[in-house]
Amino acid sequence: MANSVLYTIAVLGAATPVFSSLVNRAAAEDASSFSAQSFDYIIVGAGNAGLTVASKLAADGTTKVGIIEAGQYLPNDALIDVPSNVGLNNNNPKYDWRFNTTQQVHLDNRTVAHARGKVVGGCTAINSLIFDRGSKEEYDAWAEVGNDGWDWAGLLPSFRASYNYTGMTEGQQIGSGFNISDENTQSHDILGSGGAIQVSQNTYYSDISVPYVKTTNSLNITINTAPDSGDPVGIYNPPASIDRKTGKRSYAAAYYTANLNKTNFVVLTGAQATKVNFLPNKQDGKIVASGVTFQVNGTSYVVNATKEVILSAGVFQSPQLLELSGIGNATLLQSHGITPLIDLPGVGENLQDHAMSAQMWQVKPGVKTWDQLRINQTFVAEAALQYNTTHDGIMSSGRSVLTFTSFKTTAGGNDTEYQGMLSTLEGWLNSTTQTPLQSKQYDIQKRWINEETAPGIEFLMVPIGGFTRTRVANETSYMTVLTVLQHPFSRGSVHINSSDPLELPNVDPRYLSSPFDLAALVQGLKFINKLVSSAPLSDLIDTRVDPATNSTTTQDFEQYVRASLQTIKHPIGTCAMAPQNLNGVVDSSLKVWGSANLRVVDASILPQHVAAHLQSTVYAIGEKAGDIIKSGRSTGATNNARSGDVQSLLTVTAIIVMVTLVTTIL
Ligand SMILES: Cc1cc2nc3c(=O)[nH]c(=O)nc-3n(C[C@H](O)[C@H](O)[C@H](O)COP(=O)(O)OP(=O)(O)OC[C@H]3O[C@@H](n4cnc5c(N)ncnc54)[C@H](O)[C@@H]3O)c2cc1C
Ligand SMILES: *[C@@H]1O[C@H](CO)[C@@H](O)[C@H](O)[C@H]1NC(C)=O
Ligand SMILES: *[C@@H]1O[C@H](CO)[C@@H](O)[C@H](O)[C@H]1NC(C)=O
Ligand SMILES: *[C@@H]1O[C@H](CO)[C@@H](O)[C@H](O)[C@H]1NC(C)=O
Ligand SMILES: *[C@@H]1O[C@H](CO)[C@@H](O)[C@H](O)[C@H]1NC(C)=O
Ligand SMILES: *[C@@H]1O[C@H](CO)[C@@H](O)[C@H](O)[C@H]1NC(C)=O
Ligand SMILES: *[C@@H]1O[C@H](CO)[C@@H](O)[C@H](O)[C@H]1NC(C)=O
Ligand SMILES: *[C@@H]1O[C@H](CO)[C@@H](O)[C@H](O)[C@H]1NC(C)=O
Ligand SMILES: *[C@@H]1O[C@H](CO)[C@@H](O)[C@H](O)[C@H]1NC(C)=O
Ligand SMILES: *[C@@H]1O[C@H](CO)[C@@H](O)[C@H](O)[C@H]1NC(C)=O
Ligand SMILES: *[C@@H]1O[C@H](CO)[C@@H](O)[C@H](O)[C@H]1NC(C)=O
Ligand SMILES: *[C@@H]1O[C@H](CO)[C@@H](O)[C@H](O)[C@H]1NC(C)=O
Ligand SMILES: *[C@@H]1O[C@H](CO)[C@@H](O)[C@H](O)[C@H]1NC(C)=O
Repeated sequence: MANSVLYTIAVLGAATPVFSSLVNRAAAEDASSFSAQSFDYIIVGAGNAGLTVASKLAADGTTKVGIIEAGQYLPNDALIDVPSNVGLNNNNPKYDWRFNTTQQVHLDNRTVAHARGKVVGGCTAINSLIFDRGSKEEYDAWAEVGNDGWDWAGLLPSFRASYNYTGMTEGQQIGSGFNISDENTQSHDILGSGGAIQVSQNTYYSDISVPYVKTTNSLNITINTAPDSGDPVGIYNPPASIDRKTGKRSYAAAYYTANLNKTNFVVLTGAQATKVNFLPNKQDGKIVASGVTFQVNGTSYVVNATKEVILSAGVFQSPQLLELSGIGNATLLQSHGITPLIDLPGVGENLQDHAMSAQMWQVKPGVKTWDQLRINQTFVAEAALQYNTTHDGIMSSGRSVLTFTSFKTTAGGNDTEYQGMLSTLEGWLNSTTQTPLQSKQYDIQKRWINEETAPGIEFLMVPIGGFTRTRVANETSYMTVLTVLQHPFSRGSVHINSSDPLELPNVDPRYLSSPFDLAALVQGLKFINKLVSSAPLSDLIDTRVDPATNSTTTQDFEQYVRASLQTIKHPIGTCAMAPQNLNGVVDSSLKVWGSANLRVVDASILPQHVAAHLQSTVYAIGEKAGDIIKSGRSTGATNNARSGDVQSLLTVTAIIVMVTLVTTIL
C-alpha cells in the first residue's frame, strides 16, 4: 500500500500546497482570546454532529457560537481527501484518538482497536465514506421508547437538509452490477439537495461487482432500487460522501470552511475540554451550565456560555465529560473522588456497536481488484494521472456493494438452524437481568427478527485484501466480505478510569456477551461461504485464506469469530435519549435530565441501533438539534445570571481562531 499512498500524496501536493490556508498563532495567546470572548453557545467537538449544529445555530449571522476541538484543521490532506486512502489515517495520532477496548471476555480476552476521529470533521474525516440510511421501523423505535418527534417522518427533513445528492451517470453504471434505473428510481423527495455535504455514486468497480450481485440475487436477495426510502433490505450500490467535481472526500469540515469568514462562528483547535462548569445556584431545581474548562498544551482556560453548553464529543467522550463534570452514576463518580451533581446512572451505559467478522479469499489470476493499487505500479501511475486530471476513477471511489438482509434469509430456508438461533436468544433473555430500557429494546428487536421488518445483518463486499489477520501477499489479489451484526443484544459501557480528564475512558462493548450475537454472525459467515461457492461468483474465486480452509464446522466458525472479531466502528447509545425512568440521559430536546441548558448532540444519543452506517444519521441529528434549539423547544431556563457581563464583552472583536499544535507535515 505504501507506494500508492506516497504517489497519492505527491499528486495532491502538486495540485494544492499542503496546509496553505492555516494561520499559525501562539497557542496560549489564541486560547486566551477565545476564553475572553462571550459566546451564546459553547460546543465541545468539531465533528459530525458538532459542526452541523454549530453551523445551523450561527446561520443567522448574530448568534455567537464557540467550538472547542482537540484535533487540528487539516485541509488539503491526502490521507483525508483521497477516497482510495480510506483507513490509512486510522491509528495515526495526528487523526485518531486510537481507542482500544478493555479486554473482551468473550473474545479470548483480546482488546479491539476502535478508531475515533481527532481532527476538524471528527469521524467523518477518517471513515469509509458510505452514506446510507436505516429502515423506517428503526427510527420509529426511537419514538416508541418515549421520544416524541424522533421517528422516520420527523427525521426525514433533517436527513435531506444536510447533503446534496448527485445521481449515477451512464459511465458510472459500467461494471457496477447495477443499472442507472436501479439507482435513480427513488423519489427525489427523499434525497438531499442543496446541503453542505456532497454525496455521489462511485466511478470505479472491480471485476467482482457484477458476478457478486448476480450470485446474491440467485440466493433470493434482490436489488433494492430505493434503499433510502426507509427500506434498506436487499443488495444495492450505496452513495458515498465524495464530491464528484473534485474527487475528494466531502466531510463535516465543509461546515467549518463555509463559515470561515463569519465572526460569530469561532473554532479553537488543539484544545481539549476537561469539564463543564455550572452556576452555584440551581434554577427551578435544575443545574445551570455556565461554560467549559479546557486545556491547551497543559494550560487550563475557562470559556463562558451565556445560553447553553452542547457536548458533541462523540460516543466515548461525551459521557466521559458528563462524568468528569459530576453527572452520572453517583457511586461510580464518588469512587473517583468526583462530587455528584446529578445522579444519572444511565450515563455511559447502553453501549451498542456493530461488531463484524471479515472473511478473505484469494481470487483467480487476472481478476482485477483494488489490490492493483498495491501490486501494479503501471496501474497506480494510470490511476494517479486520471485522478489528477479528471478527478475520477479508482482513487475517487469507495465501497460499492452493500447487502442488508434477515436471519431467515441467511438461514437459507433451514428452519432447524433458524429456530435454533431463536431458542438460543430466548434462553439467554430468560437468564439475563435487564434494565427497563433494555427490556423495551429487546421486545422491539425480537419483533424485528420475527417480522423481518428491519434487517439484522449486513454483508459488505470489499474487493481488496488486508482486513484479516493473514498478511496479504505481493502479486496476489483478494476479495473480503464483512459480516456485520446490526442489532446486537450485547450491551456495554464507557466510564472514566480516573478523574484525570486527559486519560481516555474505559470502553467495554462486551462483544458477544449475548450468545445470540455469536450465533447470528456465524450464520452470516456460513451464508457468505455458500454465496462464494455459487456461480458465477465461484468462477472468480480461488482459495479461502481466512478462516483457513480446514474451518468447516459451526464450532470452527465460532472460534474464528472470537479470535478475529473487529468493529465497523458504529458505537452508539452512551447518552441515550429516553425518559429518565428508562435510564435515559437526555430528553427528546437532547437536554441532559436535571440540567437547564446542557445538551448532548452526537451519536451517543441514539437509544437503539439502526441497520446503517452512521454518518448520515448523525448529520440528521445535528440538523434536527439545531431546529429544536432555535425553536426554543423546552429550552427552559437560560443562563441569564451574567447578561451584564455579556453586554460589556460584545465589543470584543470576534476572530476565527486556529491553533496548530502539530506542525509536522507528512
Ligand atoms: C474508521 C471509521 C469508519 C467509519 N465508516 C463509516 C462509513 O463508511 N459510513 C458511515 O456512515 N459511518 C462510518 N463511520 C461512523 C461515523 O463516521 C461515526 O459514527 C460518526 O461520524 C460519529 O459522529 P459524532 O458526531 O458522534 O462524533 P465525531 O465525529 O467523532 O466527533 C467528535 C469530535 O469531538 C472531538 N472531541 C472529543 N473529545 C473532546 C474533548 N474533550 N475536547 C475537545 N474535543 C473533543 C473529537 O476530536 C471529534 O472531532 C465510521 C467511523 C470510523 C471511526
Ligand atoms: C506546547 O508545549 C511544548 C512543550 O511541552 C512546546 O514545545 C510547544 O512549543 C508548545 N506549543 C505551543 C503551540 O505553545
Ligand atoms: C466567566 O465566568 C466567570 C464566573 O462567572 C467569571 O469570573 C469570568 O469573568 C467570566 N469570563 C468572561 C470572559 O466573561
Ligand atoms: C491502541 O492499541 C494500538 C495497537 O496496539 C496502539 O498502537 C495504540 O497506541 C493504542 N492506543 C492508545 C491510545 O494507547
Ligand atoms: C481472561 O482474563 C480473566 C481475568 O484476567 C481470566 O480469569 C481468564 O482466565 C482469561 N481467559 C482467557 C481465555 O485467557
Ligand atoms: C449539488 O450538486 C450538483 C451536481 O449534481 C451541483 O451542480 C450543485 O452545484 C450542487 N449544489 C450545492 C449547493 O453544492
Ligand atoms: C473568506 O474571505 C477570503 C478573503 O476575503 C475569500 O478569499 C474567501 O473566498 C472567503 N471564504 C468564504 C468561504 O467565504
Ligand atoms: C453504579 O456504579 C456502581 C459502581 O461501579 C455499580 O456497582 C452500580 O451497579 C451502578 N449502578 C447502576 C444503576 O448502574
Ligand atoms: C497492470 O496495470 C496495467 C494498466 O492498467 C494493465 O495493463 C496490466 O494488465 C496490469 N498488470 C497485471 C499483471 O495485472
Ligand atoms: C498532477 O498535476 C500537476 C499539475 O496540476 C502536475 O504538476 C503533476 O505532475 C501531475 N501529476 C501526475 C501524476 O499526473
Ligand atoms: C428462495 O425463495 C424460494 C421461495 O420463497 C424458496 O422456495 C427457496 O428455497 C429460496 N432459496 C434459497 C436459496 O433460500
Ligand atoms: C440445517 O441446520 C442444522 C442445524 O445447524 C444442520 O444440522 C442441518 O444439517 C441443516 N440442514 C441442511 C439441509 O443443511
Ligand atoms: C423462557 O421463558 C419462557 C417464559 O418463562 C418459557 O416459556 C420458555 O420456555 C423459556 N425459554 C427458554 C429457551 O428457556
